[in-house]
Amino acid sequence: MLQTTTIETAPRGETGPRTIGVKPLNPTIGAEISGVDPSQPIPEQTATELRQAIADHIVIFLRDTPLDFAAHQRLAAVFGEAHIAPSTAAWRVEGFPEITKMHADGTSKYVAGENWHSDMSADPEPPMGSVLYLHTIPTLGGDTVFANMYAAWDALSDTMRAMLDGLTATHDAVKAFGAIVARDMELPCTSHPIARIHPVTGRKALYVNPGYTTKIDGMAEAESDALLRFLYEHIKDPRFQCRFTWSPHATAIWDNRCSQHVAIWDYFPQVRSGFRIQVKGERPA
Ligand code: SIN
Repeated sequence: MLQTTTIETAPRGETGPRTIGVKPLNPTIGAEISGVDPSQPIPEQTATELRQAIADHIVIFLRDTPLDFAAHQRLAAVFGEAHIAPSTAAWRVEGFPEITKMHADGTSKYVAGENWHSDMSADPEPPMGSVLYLHTIPTLGGDTVFANMYAAWDALSDTMRAMLDGLTATHDAVKAFGAIVARDMELPCTSHPIARIHPVTGRKALYVNPGYTTKIDGMAEAESDALLRFLYEHIKDPRFQCRFTWSPHATAIWDNRCSQHVAIWDYFPQVRSGFRIQVKGERPA
């Protein structure tokens, strides 16, 4: 069971170190945060509390907080250095290589993240986290669902965990982006442990996802396919999840090392628009 804490927000106008408010969405994953103002330098005390909130709740949400690029960078920097990945021209923001445009409208043929995934898991060092800010949202729909991969790992039987622990799986970005990006763009393909140890909490998390994972290394194709099919069903258990309904100028910050998420595209042809910064991670252990 995750520990949940509510920290009082410092009174407005107070000049000393600020603290944040933390309101869990459920006992397993997700919390709404208050008391953070990324338009100003973020005090070290607040930064420490934000990092603790992510460690406790895996994904945190800020509402009613417009972010310009500087504020977005400041908020992301609380969690580490920006992860800069090659991206297609349509997603780039001129002069800001770390910022990716996230936009869908009535002309879109696809949206990012429509399949359960952990961001860029095919990279040798996938981003530890992502900071997604949306300024424009549809009148209804466009939620994002997040799932706790510690809970998914813990819910497997001892026998299943013993079999999977120590195995690796191949994550191939061609599965995620092959049909979308330019043919000559080089896409990573890497093997990672199926039970990933989180470097901050020391806990094991299930680290295979239908967006990127193509096979369990060392198994026959039929064995690997059957086991992955089971694990992909398992991660969708609603007990592991929270569902975030966006409001304009909300931000979601998640830890990719112990979660997966899916963006629900149920609002076509309406507009959903914003920007994302990813934070550098480490090689999964
Ligand atoms: C993503 O997968 O990074 C996008 C999530 C979203 O748009 O809700």
